[in-house]
Amino acid sequence: MDCNCDSGRSIVPVSYTGWAVAEMRAIESERRDALFHDVLARKLTGDKGKELLACLQMTDEFNFEMVMRTKVIDDLIYQIVRSHSDVVLNLAAGLDTRPYRLDLPSQLRWIEADYPGVVQYKNKTLADDKPMCQLERRPVDLSDDKARRDLLRQVNGETRQGTVITEGILGYLTEENVEALARDLHAQESIKWWITGVTSREFASWMHERIWSSMNPTLAPWIQEVIRDVMTPMLASSIQSRLAQQGTEFFRAFGWETAAFHSFISEGQRLGRMPPLTWPSKATSGLEQSGIAILRRLDS
Ligand SMILES: C[S@@+](CC[C@H](N)C(=O)[O-])C[C@H]1O[C@@H](n2cnc3c(N)ncnc32)[C@H](O)[C@@H]1O
Repeated sequence: MDCNCDSGRSIVPVSYTGWAVAEMRAIESERRDALFHDVLARKLTGDKGKELLACLQMTDEFNFEMVMRTKVIDDLIYQIVRSHSDVVLNLAAGLDTRPYRLDLPSQLRWIEADYPGVVQYKNKTLADDKPMCQLERRPVDLSDDKARRDLLRQVNGETRQGTVITEGILGYLTEENVEALARDLHAQESIKWWITGVTSREFASWMHERIWSSMNPTLAPWIQEVIRDVMTPMLASSIQSRLAQQGTEFFRAFGWETAAFHSFISEGQRLGRMPPLTWPSKATSGLEQSGIAILRRLDS
C-alpha cells in the first residue's frame, strides 16, 4: 500500500478518523468550485484515507459537513485569530494543515496537539514543507487529566490572547473528559477564545445509521476496527450526550458563552453549497443545530 504511515500500531485506530477527514479535504480541493485548497491533504492521507472513505461509503457528496466546518473555521481564523490572538492551540489537530495553507502572520505561534503517533507521522511527512507561522507539535493524550492540564498550563503561561480549536474531537472524548476540558480551558486566563464543533442528536443519529450500515466482514480488519470500535460507539454516545441535546448552552456551566454560532445549513446557504437532495430530511434538519461555535469567557 502506498502510504507514508507506519504499519505498526503507533497510529491508534481513532487517529484514522483524521485520515478520513483529510481525504475529504483533498477531494474538496480538487473541485473546480473548491471552498479551500489543502494541497498537503493528499500527501498526508496516501491510499489509506481513500480506502477508508470508500468503505464508509462517503462519496464526495457526503462530505458537506466536513467542508463547511473547515471553511467556517478558516474564516473565523481570518476574522478573529489573525488580529486578536498570539497563540493558537489546535487540540487533536489530526492531519490539519492550516499553518501551511492559511495566510497567517509569521510571528503567530500555532501549537498542534494529538496522540504521539500522529505527531511523529506529521513531523516526518511534512519535514520539507514550510509553515506560514511558528508551528510546534505536542504529543498528548487529551483524556489524561494530568497531561492535558500540563499542556494547557504551559500554553497559558506563554500567551496573552490564546485561541483553542477543538474540531472533530469532542465526540471521541467521554462526557466527563469534555466537561473537564471545558473547565481546564476556563482555568487558563490567557485562553480567550474557543472554536469548537457541535453536532446535534439528529445528525449524529443519521451518521450512526449510515456508518454502521457500512460495516461488512469483508472489509480490511483495520477499517472494521475503525467502524466498529471507534466511529459507531462515538456516534452512539454523541446521540446521548448533553452537548448534543443542549448545543452551545452546554458550555455556559463551565464559564464559556457563545460569541457566534455558524450552522452548517446557514453557511451552506451563504456559500451556495447545500447538502445533497438525496439526504433524508432528518439529516438535513439535524444540520441546522450542528455547526461551529466560537466561545468566549463569560468573565471577559
Ligand atoms: C476526526 S479526527 C479530527 C482531526 C482534525 N481536528 C480535523 O478536523 O481534521 C480526530 C482526531 O482526534 C485525535 N484524538 C482522539 N482522541 C484523542 C485523545 N484522547 N488525545 C489526543 N488526540 C485524540 C485523533 O488522533 C484524531 O487525530
